[in-house]
Amino acid sequence: MDRVKVGVLISGRGSNLQALIDAAAAPDYPAEIALVISNIPEVYGLERARAAGIETATLPHNNYPDRATFEQALAHALREAGCEIVCLAGFMRVLGGAFVAQWPNRMLNVHPSLLPSFKGLHTQRKALEAGVTLAGCSVHIVTPDLDDGPILAQAAVPVLPGDTEDSLSARILEQEHRIYPAALAWLASGQVRIEGRRAILDNADRQPEALVMPPV
Ligand code: GRF
Repeated sequence: MDRVKVGVLISGRGSNLQALIDAAAAPDYPAEIALVISNIPEVYGLERARAAGIETATLPHNNYPDRATFEQALAHALREAGCEIVCLAGFMRVLGGAFVAQWPNRMLNVHPSLLPSFKGLHTQRKALEAGVTLAGCSVHIVTPDLDDGPILAQAAVPVLPGDTEDSLSARILEQEHRIYPAALAWLASGQVRIEGRRAILDNADRQPEALVMPPV
């Protein structure tokens, strides 16, 4: 089986990266992680990649005169490694339209909220402040607008009495690790069609696993 090459961009601990690495270890997984790039030196996610024998690169954004030059370097590294899909996994830089346009409908992000609620940073805090009773996470196609773009998978979790940002984040993160590998597999195996703002999964059999709320 020809597996689609994926580049993963990280800025930190890389637990979502690990979920993708673990999923890609299955022989029938349709994607392989060809390159992991961090914009922050020496983050734990880079160690995870090395431990899995994956090529890594560190491109500190501060080393570049402007965003465009940084993004050109990122794009160059991804292209050199043959990456046809790009996954953002805790990558803490906003990417410009010129970069995003190079992987049209081929770039994914995981965000710790039920989009379109709570875009941007501090999502769990915003959810607690808003008093919502359900929180969750989303995997979406990256467009030039922050945390926007067609949604491929979501999972909901309850907000429980006494929750803190940390406890809610941990509950959500567990679900991120579940839906991100599923969504990447759908994209890599050509099951995703984009119609307007919507992502449509051609193989409906696999859709429910990411939509069902986990047991409380
Ligand atoms: C996750 O909560 C992800 O949704 C957000 O940043 C965090 C990254 O965590 N975009 P990790 O580095 O994957 O552990």
